[in-house]
Amino acid sequence: MSEVHTRPIPAEFAANALIGAEDYERMYHQSVQNPEAFWAQQAKDFLQWEKPFTQVLEEDMHRGHSAWFADGQLNVTVNCIDRHLASRSDQTAILWEGDDPADSVAITYRTLYDNVCRLGNLLKSRGVKKGDRVCIYMPMIPEAAYAMLACARIGAVHSVVFGGFSPSALKDRILDSDCHLVITADEAVRGGKHIPLKANVDQALSECPNVHTTIVVKHIGAPVDWNSKRDIWYAESIAEMDSACAPEVINAEDPLFILYTSGSTGKPKGVLHTTAGYLLMATMSFKYVFDYREGEVFWCTADVGWITGHSYIVYGPLAAGATSLMFEGVPTYPDASRFWQVVDKHRVNSFYTAPTAIRALMGAGDEFVTSTERSSLRLLGTVGEPINPEAWEWYFKVVGQERCPIVDTWWQTETGAHMITPLPGAVALKPGSATKPFFGVQPVLLDGDGREIDGPGEGALAIKRSWPSMIRDVYGDRQRMIDTYFSTYPGYYFTGDGARRDADGYFWITGRIDDVLNVSGHRLGTAEIESALVLHSDTAEAAVVGYPHDIKGQGIYAFVTLKSGHQPSEALLRELTALCASEIGPIAKPDRIQWAPGLPKTRSGKIMRRILRKIACNDLDNLGDTSTLADPTVVDDLLAHRENR
Ligand code: WTA
Repeated sequence: MSEVHTRPIPAEFAANALIGAEDYERMYHQSVQNPEAFWAQQAKDFLQWEKPFTQVLEEDMHRGHSAWFADGQLNVTVNCIDRHLASRSDQTAILWEGDDPADSVAITYRTLYDNVCRLGNLLKSRGVKKGDRVCIYMPMIPEAAYAMLACARIGAVHSVVFGGFSPSALKDRILDSDCHLVITADEAVRGGKHIPLKANVDQALSECPNVHTTIVVKHIGAPVDWNSKRDIWYAESIAEMDSACAPEVINAEDPLFILYTSGSTGKPKGVLHTTAGYLLMATMSFKYVFDYREGEVFWCTADVGWITGHSYIVYGPLAAGATSLMFEGVPTYPDASRFWQVVDKHRVNSFYTAPTAIRALMGAGDEFVTSTERSSLRLLGTVGEPINPEAWEWYFKVVGQERCPIVDTWWQTETGAHMITPLPGAVALKPGSATKPFFGVQPVLLDGDGREIDGPGEGALAIKRSWPSMIRDVYGDRQRMIDTYFSTYPGYYFTGDGARRDADGYFWITGRIDDVLNVSGHRLGTAEIESALVLHSDTAEAAVVGYPHDIKGQGIYAFVTLKSGHQPSEALLRELTALCASEIGPIAKPDRIQWAPGLPKTRSGKIMRRILRKIACNDLDNLGDTSTLADPTVVDDLLAHRENR
């Protein structure tokens, strides 16, 4: 790999940063030398407890078990709302920017409190109790945050399902965690396009007999079907509720939320996070990684349906008392300068987005950026996938005018918060590297035999020792959690990613080394897409792999074998694509489908994905050893009919 240009910490930034280089070294050292003392202190500094903890950590990584601050009690919403009321009740908590540039609303901490309490009471009035699961399927509107926080207020466990998922995917998630109540809206709108959320819920619920209530926010005013036994309007219902709702006292290790994410096998897993450890790391990383200062406006462009939205739109910023901007729209509507116009309009200080958006905007041309001021920006961030150095340089020079450090944050749904990331005042940047571990995080690279690699090298990325926001369970399937994360390398949490460490100790994430794709920063399991493709009555078999895609990072390449007697056709191509959209969501549509008379399999019947990946990536010089294939001629056939669109 060619040498990249190291970007020193800008002097002005270093002089004022919350954490400087020496602080980082000292605190990191403490955090791994004596994690219990370190985290006990952070938990006291960052969180407000109803009952102080006396135990700090109980851990058995071999069983995937960890408990943090287990005998302490607290409520997340007291930390995110109530404790701010005395000093900042009139400060904006959520700054909402609608899809239409004419729409924006500032929600103060006082208004947030009022709405969360009323909705908490409404949930209780519909029979929701501590520990019950509530599904949230919402547009990017403040009510999505109210819904999450209302659950936390009363100790219910939310499961937010991304509004881009199909009715079928929604149904699977509602059933898996046995939600009895769904919070949704009539419609969502993104880039001027409407998404019929309520109609999707209606369709999903036809197979979810346990759901007794849907709370519907009238967002667009679109006509919806109404089931008067089940459906209630949000606004009229909360208007009747009391505006005080005593916070439930929650044990540190009680569940806060479930969030479904894709893995290499089977259906998506419900990643379970608990209360105190998650909130601590979300808040602390928010403050230190974004070098947050009192009064600043922070903007994370993710959807609340993903972990990034949970930790860095809702929980982290609000617990830190920040102003969090929530954006309903897309980067290119009405045109490709929308992000920067919003930055100017709301004087945004820190801006956090995905490399795929940066690449798309880079392609649209610099004038969409340079026509705006961006003088309020102080810090930029990226998340979700590796960022290529070209996109990094463009972000740094054109967007940030070489003034704003870029924090490239590596983490996962399962880790809850940032794990490898620069602290902007402490670590010099190298474009494309997520740099150094966050406090308390001990990343290791493991070789093929599961041994730790010392010094520079490349291997499987794993984490030694528990950290407070570590996944606690796969909802309803503890064994699956152990098998997925804690069995491949006993004693470690296995991330599914590969990484390289350079001579300076910087980490470079090389991407997934399991069968998970990262398409525009969204995780998709190849197995899920394959299951959708084989639902078609003409399909005999399907295998899905990723290939490099200029904008999306990875594209979806599907090899489909038809049952004998069935012929490929344009119509079939469309039907298969539509199946992926209806089973999972539009993000799961294959970019390419290749008709495959046969798939390369070993004699024991296992598909050799390595070969399919090479064909999809057009890397044909070295297909590797094909002699172990049951029928090596299959490969010649695939090569002869490569998809060239
Ligand atoms: C990838 C998103 C490189 C990685 C927060 C990980 C990244 C998966 C980065 C988790 C980054 C996330 N550099 N790769 N800065 N951040 N990834 O669960 O492959 O949606 O395993 O969480 O995204 O995706 P998830």
